[in-house]
Amino acid sequence: MSKCNITKKKIDAFMTFGKMPLANGFLKKIDFKKEKFYNLDVGFNEKISLFQVLGVPKFSNTVYKNYPFFTNKSVYMIRHFKKCAKWIKNNFLDFKSNLIEIGSNDGTMIKNFNNSSINAIGVDPAPNVVSFARKNGVKTYNIFFNSKNIYKLKKYYKSTKVIYAANVFCHIKDLIDVIKCVDYLLSSDGYFIFEEPYLGSMYKNISYDQLYDEHIYMFSASSILRIFQLYDFELIDIQSQITHGGSVRYIISRKNKNLIKKNVNKFLKYEDLNNISNIEGCLKFKNDCEMSRELILNKIKKLKKKNKSICGYAATAKSTTVLNYCGVGNELIECIYDTSEEKIGKYSPGMHIPILPMKDFKKSNFDYAYLFAWNHKKEIFGKEKKFKKKGGKWLCHVKI
Ligand code: TMP
Repeated sequence: MSKCNITKKKIDAFMTFGKMPLANGFLKKIDFKKEKFYNLDVGFNEKISLFQVLGVPKFSNTVYKNYPFFTNKSVYMIRHFKKCAKWIKNNFLDFKSNLIEIGSNDGTMIKNFNNSSINAIGVDPAPNVVSFARKNGVKTYNIFFNSKNIYKLKKYYKSTKVIYAANVFCHIKDLIDVIKCVDYLLSSDGYFIFEEPYLGSMYKNISYDQLYDEHIYMFSASSILRIFQLYDFELIDIQSQITHGGSVRYIISRKNKNLIKKNVNKFLKYEDLNNISNIEGCLKFKNDCEMSRELILNKIKKLKKKNKSICGYAATAKSTTVLNYCGVGNELIECIYDTSEEKIGKYSPGMHIPILPMKDFKKSNFDYAYLFAWNHKKEIFGKEKKFKKKGGKWLCHVKI
């Protein structure tokens, strides 16, 4: 493995979203004074076309002590992972292959391999989700996936056919350390398959709320190609996914082991043409974000002038970026409804909007609901038809 660590290069910020608390730092009233903030600045590493959040605070790892997100809360994600497991099984695995999922959460994906010949195991740092996964019969290592801990997986040394990760790679600051661990575990004919929110989709949707202390990188085909080719790996295929408002699944193998699918070149050309692989795209994005903030603030303020009531729907990590960047507090959005026990009764990070149980949303009479979980709109619109029937309207900075 090469020794150079590209992600440690000092990058200048091209934009700041200002003072930001931890995206999942939902807190009690008595903890308001102790709340910590950092500056959410973003930059672009031109050498490897990598869009990244700069200066992620050290205290951000504390979220994994009691991770507030369970994959099985979304029926769409359950379905997505079922389909994905079938696709992996049919295309990449052999009888009795080893499969490791990084960031396996509550075991929703790995569970699909229960009662099969595949030896599928999960790795996740959060004890609460791991304990749930284990109860579901999913063998899970409760560790951070890094070179300090990798010896705990030594029985899978160079013998893992597939290493899979969904919405995980962009959370890990030291990408090169992950690649080293993948190199340690992967068989010579193995595949590293991972899916992440796509930079091109974030630009298109102006969904700047994808950026927060846990989402450190926004990847593209150009960045993934450049990062992995430095480490004797190769991007061999790429697929668009509809999850999280537009994601991409990358398939990586060791160099010169597989033919490279035409899709890879198609993506690279598209990204060059649309400034996704260069700094031009970043500068346009900065302008777009500023305009988006002005538009949504004006809209909310106009509605309040007309005495319209507004609540939030789903206290997502993403909502923290929107509320703090736009400076929206509970004078504009009275409360946020959410299904997570861990968040109910607490307040939103930074702007301190109360989080109320989702069951009360149905009984409420708000004129507008700000959809913070816009990436789950299909599922939510499906189950909240009554809100519209009662005359309620949805609101969002992203086109929904
Ligand atoms: P995340 O996007 O940061 O992972 O957070 C998702 C949050 O949204 C989680 O707290 C649960 C909440 N949620 C609802 O309350 N209702 C829903 O229908 C969905 C899809 C999510």
